[in-house]
Amino acid sequence: MEDLNLSSSSIPVDEDYGVFEYLEDEEASSAYSVASSVYNFRVENGRRYHDYKDGHPFPYDEVSEENEQVLHAMILVLFDNKYFVSPIDESALHCIVDVGTGKGLWAEGVAERYPEAQVVGIDTVQHERSLQPNCSFILQDATDEWVLDDPSMKFDLVHIRNLFVGVRDWDALYAQCFEKMNSGGWIEQLEIEIDAQVDDESALPDSQIMKLCKFVDDMTAATGRDFRASSKMKTAIEEAGFVDVQEQKVKLPLGPWASDPKFKDIGRFFERFYKTGLQGWLLQICIRFFGWTLKQVNDACVQAFQEINSRQQHMYFTLVIVIGRKP
Ligand SMILES: C[S@@+](CC[C@H](N)C(=O)[O-])C[C@H]1O[C@@H](n2cnc3c(N)ncnc32)[C@H](O)[C@@H]1O
Repeated sequence: MEDLNLSSSSIPVDEDYGVFEYLEDEEASSAYSVASSVYNFRVENGRRYHDYKDGHPFPYDEVSEENEQVLHAMILVLFDNKYFVSPIDESALHCIVDVGTGKGLWAEGVAERYPEAQVVGIDTVQHERSLQPNCSFILQDATDEWVLDDPSMKFDLVHIRNLFVGVRDWDALYAQCFEKMNSGGWIEQLEIEIDAQVDDESALPDSQIMKLCKFVDDMTAATGRDFRASSKMKTAIEEAGFVDVQEQKVKLPLGPWASDPKFKDIGRFFERFYKTGLQGWLLQICIRFFGWTLKQVNDACVQAFQEINSRQQHMYFTLVIVIGRKP
């Protein structure tokens, strides 16, 4: 894999950071309108959740869609407008699957880029018809046996991004990916580690963002859902039988504090990703399992956002990318 950033060294800091930036006075928003008309959705605390099987603890609505759009745009910037980093012979790319496709931004994008390939997106959320004739969506839990229109279909590329808490049995999912792939095909997974870090002296004492990261262990224990899939995926992908497995870690600055223009841009996207994601990641779990009120959740988010808006810290999260080949 090409080296994407600076994981082995500190991110150089823009000296003007915090001097010129307009500080948003932002609140955790529940003001987005939510259409509750979609068949298997329910609205809880102003956010919309789907009810497929045992549901998902994160909302699926206009705010989460923005969150997905921001992540999608950010990864395209990181990958210099490429859809994947696996060393695939593009002329041999016939069938592609996007597991946990969400809005299908990646699936439709890759379908447009490779019009000769067939692309399938799998998600527990119902989709509108794809705009790309070579892309289709299946409503299904990806951990169940995939019901494909053509059961003999085998994939040359399996893409998984930001799926983490949605899967309880990763081994079973990787085993199915392996079985449904062509020999020589690649699996590629991207997940963000939920551990904020600061490499220099800018860390604030009592950081709310750090506290929320540590709270993730309680959330994992309470829900039985794995918030730390990123730390295990390389081993699990190897154990599923894939070879040439490589892992790369990329630092994602939280805010535009990096001096490098590309990572300044990524920092802006990642700040927006965090701000559009945080309330949804906390809301249902904190209220159901820890007895928080909606106000407590929103206050926790506002505190975290104010910490970012203070423009004092050079904080980052780590994106983990794992690729592997089916022999
Ligand atoms: C955070 S979104 C990420 C969407 C997309 N992969 C991206 O990166 O833009 C996670 C998606 O995974 C879906 N998901 C979670 N668990 C799933 C499962 N077991 N089977 C299929 N889809 C799942 C959710 O419904 C949601 O749309």
